[in-house]
Amino acid sequence: MQITLKVFRYNPEVDKQFHYETYTIEGEETDRILDLLEHVKGYKDGSLSFRRSCAHGVCGSDAMRINGKNMLACKALVRDVGTTITVEPLLGLKVAKDLIVDMEPFFDNYKKMLPYFINDSPLPEGGRERLQTPEQRARFDDTTKCILCAACTTSCPSFWASDEYYGPAALVAAHRFVFDSRDEGAAERMEVISETNGLARCHTIYNCTNACPRDIQITKAIGELKLATLTGKIE
Ligand code: SF4
Ligand code: FES
Repeated sequence: MQITLKVFRYNPEVDKQFHYETYTIEGEETDRILDLLEHVKGYKDGSLSFRRSCAHGVCGSDAMRINGKNMLACKALVRDVGTTITVEPLLGLKVAKDLIVDMEPFFDNYKKMLPYFINDSPLPEGGRERLQTPEQRARFDDTTKCILCAACTTSCPSFWASDEYYGPAALVAAHRFVFDSRDEGAAERMEVISETNGLARCHTIYNCTNACPRDIQITKAIGELKLATLTGKIE
């Protein structure tokens, strides 16, 4: 089948402003959008720039807007999006080149959540690990699945309105550790997410949840953090 691929192009070294290039490609309905981009880069225009690594929905590096919706190019199939396809970079982050955005502000916000295990207490006597029941582990299971693709944060109108907002992905990282019974850094994280640019900027719009390629219940996780800050209870 014939596929029309319209791609956002911008090279800051030569372009005054962005434009779109349209490519016609012979493909299959089971082709991924990443395959189409690889085809353009390999056979039509080697200067096309986009990020990818695993090509299997694991690394989170190829999130982009496909027909207006944030998706991973390696997971989106032609049969899901149709044969006339527009591919654009994520919104709300500066375009570095073509489909590549500057992820530094995104990772800066992630780092603010102290996204690592904090516990300086000695290990339980005679033990070599900090034990946890299956129920305690299940409490934060969903938010462990994040691959830091930024599809959620860059689909959030509150983030578009203010890039000072830490964004849903950062809050997902906070949730993953705040509700971990073995971790002792919750108070510090709760302080960070209670700042003006934290939870208060979430208006429960659900765009983040709809955009997440890992099906993480992001709005629910943010709601649980909001409740914890209101009640002072982490449970
Ligand atoms: Fe991507 Fe989902 Fe993680 Fe957001 S929560 S960065 S959409 S994997
Ligand atoms: Fe790794 Fe798509 S290339 S998630």
